[in-house]
Amino acid sequence: MGAGKTDAEIMLIGEAPGRQEVIENRPFIGKAGQVMDDYFTWLGLTRADVYITSVIRSRPYQKSKPGYDKPIEQRGNRTPNQAEILAHAPLLDAQIEDVAPKVIVTLGGVAFRRVTGMKERLTDIHGTPFQSKILKLESLNSNRYIPSDQTYTIFPTFHPASIFYNQKLKAAIEDDMRKLKDYLTMSKVK
Ligand code: URA
Repeated sequence: MGAGKTDAEIMLIGEAPGRQEVIENRPFIGKAGQVMDDYFTWLGLTRADVYITSVIRSRPYQKSKPGYDKPIEQRGNRTPNQAEILAHAPLLDAQIEDVAPKVIVTLGGVAFRRVTGMKERLTDIHGTPFQSKILKLESLNSNRYIPSDQTYTIFPTFHPASIFYNQKLKAAIEDDMRKLKDYLTMSKVK
């Protein structure tokens, strides 16, 4: 699942589709998508200006409680595990290669760690762009990630859904988006 301009200079990478995204096969159209729209307002961009994708393409759903087999569509989302991230790695790698963005905006810790392999906490590093090679799968039948040949600008920020757990992050995200806007203007990325 990915959407937007296929030769975009800016790529946003989320975690995994939610319930609504799986139904419509489009990223960030559910609850988190409404918050995502604020990101674009703060950035002065539209979804058509960028490419949006995610670390994994299917919805990781919660197990049902023992003795109660809740239908999958009624279960909550959960964080994807390493096996799921690995299984979907070739797709994300191919998408990054195809789009060849200049700036990769990682939304949340899962995307940040998958893309950079860095262990830093998002609260310590969000909102500051840096140049880095990214991680890609060594080969289709490998389970090892290796650094890319190219260097990208990485801009780590919080996932839109993070404000559902911590309202205070909204101000931090707004501030991040203003910093990103300044960076894009200064470096003539559009
Ligand atoms: N969260 C994501 O990371 N991606 C979506 O498309 C929706 C929610």
